[in-house]
Amino acid sequence: MKVVRSPKQIQEIVRKIKKQGRSIGFVPTMGALHPGHLSLIRGARKDNQAVFVSIFVNPIQFGPREDLSKYPRPIKKDIALCNKEGVDFIFYPSFKSMYPDGFDTYVNVPGLTEGLCGKFRPGHFKGVTTVVNKLFNLIQPDIAYFGQKDYQQALAVKKMAEDLSMPLAVKVAPTIREKDGLAMSSRNKYLNPSERKDAVLLYRGLKLARNLINKGNHNCVSVINSVRKFLKQGRTISVQYISIVDLKNIEPALILKGKVLIALAVYAGKTRLIDNIIVKI
Ligand code: PAF
Repeated sequence: MKVVRSPKQIQEIVRKIKKQGRSIGFVPTMGALHPGHLSLIRGARKDNQAVFVSIFVNPIQFGPREDLSKYPRPIKKDIALCNKEGVDFIFYPSFKSMYPDGFDTYVNVPGLTEGLCGKFRPGHFKGVTTVVNKLFNLIQPDIAYFGQKDYQQALAVKKMAEDLSMPLAVKVAPTIREKDGLAMSSRNKYLNPSERKDAVLLYRGLKLARNLINKGNHNCVSVINSVRKFLKQGRTISVQYISIVDLKNIEPALILKGKVLIALAVYAGKTRLIDNIIVKI
């Protein structure tokens, strides 16, 4: 396995791999790898002849009051994990090499990024699609892998790839959870014991919504209110949003039919957590 820091060098490597006719699987990450990332890497390993992982805490997707400076960066541990998983190349660029002075071109997918998290994190998805576009240009994957936990991100990346005729597939893999149901996230590290205890309520709240719908409650407002009430038992929890939306355009679902996404974002103390499930009606 090779760790590559320079964009020029990664392009040279990609050129060679393409010349050899090997397919490229790519897992973009911000590091602090957890079993969710590892499952994406395993998927990439299974489907492709070469596996690339990027580790880059992308400053332009963080808001001014968000956690950029404290975001975990255990690079040695991440490298060891990638090595163990059979990754071929880690791309670990510096900020300057990704955003040299004068950088001024952005990619935006407006429609899909205005609702859900987009409403509360202005500029976030523009930062994500811009960096993912850059990474796709450098690594030229055949298949790129994203987790369902960040459903809106995966949808925006898919749309970008489609609209800009990018010759690649975007695969979305199921959310990997702790034993008690908490979705794996690099940000779980921030939680103190009482916040961690309350954090199990997110997935339980989503399952409550699913049960209510399955039992015939097809009134979105009533289902959302039940989840909101349920989450109130967590003393450290404050809800940012709970939404039931169309799977394809993430517009609020007016009628519950077919498949819908139930998504929520909450704060456990100062840590923002998101989760979602897909429910078939
Ligand atoms: O999901 C993430 O870790 C990031 O948003 C991504 C896709 C690596 C872009 O910085």
